[in-house]
Amino acid sequence: MLKTINCGEIRSTNVSQIISVAGWVHRRRDHGNLIFIDLRDRSGIVQIVFTPEISHSDNEIAESLRNEWVIQVKGKVLSRDDQAINPELSTGEIEIFADEITVLNESFTPPFYVNEESDVDENLRLKFRYVDLRREGMKNALIIRHKVVKYIRDFLDSEDFIEIETPILIKSTPEGARDHVVPSRLYPGTFYALPQSPQQLKQLLMVGGIEKYFQIARCFRDEDSRSDRQPEFTQLDLEMSFVSQEDVLRLTEKLFTQMITEILPEKNIPSPFPRITHKEAMDSYGIDRPDLRFGMKMHDLSDTFKTLDFKVFQNVISSDGIIKGFSVPQAFEFTRKEIDDLTEFVKSRGASGLISIGIDPNAKSISDFEMDQIKSNILRFLDKDHIESTLNITDSSPGDLVFIIAGDVDSTNASLAALRHLMGEKMNLIAPNDLALAFVTDFPLFDWDKEEKKWKASHHAFCLPKDGYTEFLDSDPGKVIAQSYDLICNGLEMASGSIRVHHRDLQEKIFEVLGYSIEDVSERFSQLLDALEYGAPPHGGIAPGIDRLVMVLLGKDSIRDVIAFPKTQSQMDPLFGAPSAIEDDQLRELNIALINED
Ligand code: AMO
Repeated sequence: MLKTINCGEIRSTNVSQIISVAGWVHRRRDHGNLIFIDLRDRSGIVQIVFTPEISHSDNEIAESLRNEWVIQVKGKVLSRDDQAINPELSTGEIEIFADEITVLNESFTPPFYVNEESDVDENLRLKFRYVDLRREGMKNALIIRHKVVKYIRDFLDSEDFIEIETPILIKSTPEGARDHVVPSRLYPGTFYALPQSPQQLKQLLMVGGIEKYFQIARCFRDEDSRSDRQPEFTQLDLEMSFVSQEDVLRLTEKLFTQMITEILPEKNIPSPFPRITHKEAMDSYGIDRPDLRFGMKMHDLSDTFKTLDFKVFQNVISSDGIIKGFSVPQAFEFTRKEIDDLTEFVKSRGASGLISIGIDPNAKSISDFEMDQIKSNILRFLDKDHIESTLNITDSSPGDLVFIIAGDVDSTNASLAALRHLMGEKMNLIAPNDLALAFVTDFPLFDWDKEEKKWKASHHAFCLPKDGYTEFLDSDPGKVIAQSYDLICNGLEMASGSIRVHHRDLQEKIFEVLGYSIEDVSERFSQLLDALEYGAPPHGGIAPGIDRLVMVLLGKDSIRDVIAFPKTQSQMDPLFGAPSAIEDDQLRELNIALINED
């Protein structure tokens, strides 16, 4: 190799050795006769010193170096003088006195600084991803991602799982998004679909007697990108036969606990992971993936305000809506302007307004206060009793501020949940090393789609109803609770899974509720339904998103920061310029004609 040691690994124990290093010029400082180069490779940075006495004519080359040039240096490791020791650097106690330098390649001036973690326009970063990947943050993310995947593979191997690849060119596997499709050349007019997940394939593997399967699986979903979503992403997909929900949750908890403890020991994780039902999550947090790093539980105040002579509340109650709120500790001092801004915020999330009731920190207690110690935008409608019971129900103390939203259940939950999350950040309630992992269980099998006026699978169509709930499939599908679960962390959904249906008649019934015609079912799902009649064992599994997991582990705001070559928010790849047009010949071969719509 061109190097005998990595830059970041040189220590005092190497002093006096003659070594070779190779890497990128991170920084150059020129003090006339004395030139310092910070040389960087993947392992870190080391300081190289060029002096005319030792480096002879090479000093001229050193003078010509610019950032990101690729060089090889031979030299001697020496201890730094005491005052020159740099405790910030793992190699800070030594430096290399250069004896020979070879320029391996020059570099254009990079489009942004590699030696700073400054904010750079994301399109530029993605267009020059090969330069961006040299930056510390991206490099570390990819190293952690590698460690996570390696840990998962070793762990599951030790638990007797086998890794099996499943096809990428397949048929539509609905997970609620649009398919990415690939035209077939040999069968004109037909298309493969890329898998949205290997869901049916892993179930077929269980019918195939594999018993414990996993895969680091690529999934493709044509859906809008977001900060935690990509059109192409990676799951740890796993499935087990002869298991109950409890077995899958335990295995998942063990994997996550051991993996995080090993890879990021500084993180705080709960033990055991708390479990809440979907209903509890919606009632207490207004969302099925609450951030549990802080409290501020929500409370239903409809009953309390039933008796208040305030038209807004009365209208909401008579139209089957809800009045809900939560208390923000020590937020009494919020200014009028701050509350106005928060009102605009919740309005943008679907609420029609925001009500606040605050109690002065100097009040004796929440049941012993003066009316002039109360601050509220509906003060003139309130009396002591209603205030006291609001403060009581919301577990408030003097100094707190209660936020209340009244409206239909969905928009009230959504806007209050967004407000709660914002308050967590604004009140600095989030400890950077907390990973509030928890399981949410007992999801409904179906959600009512108001726009399309039909039942949609809340997770997917293959989830087994809980014991005693199948009877509602006919009478009231909205009541059916499934043996399905999510793993959540810090307000994000990390994984989803369920125990699956393994009998044909039940699976057909579920498709019927979802509104599939018999022809549709046989066209799209016959492979699975037929397999269920050839000795399908009871089975279940889960699929954590790897990208999202690494994003949360590293506290990143964007999933794109943990993927080597992601797509932009608008599904573009600025580096390769994808998607792009293809040659006319290729189109002809595929029997495709473009409809020109402009
Ligand atoms: P689900 O669709 O919930 O379940 O996906 C499982 C997990 O995959 C991650 N994920 C994504 N990550 C990045 N970008 C996306 N577009 C994206 N979509 C999903 C999330 C999510 O929790 N077959 C089922 C799993 C099962 O039932 O076993 C499935 O795919 O972290």
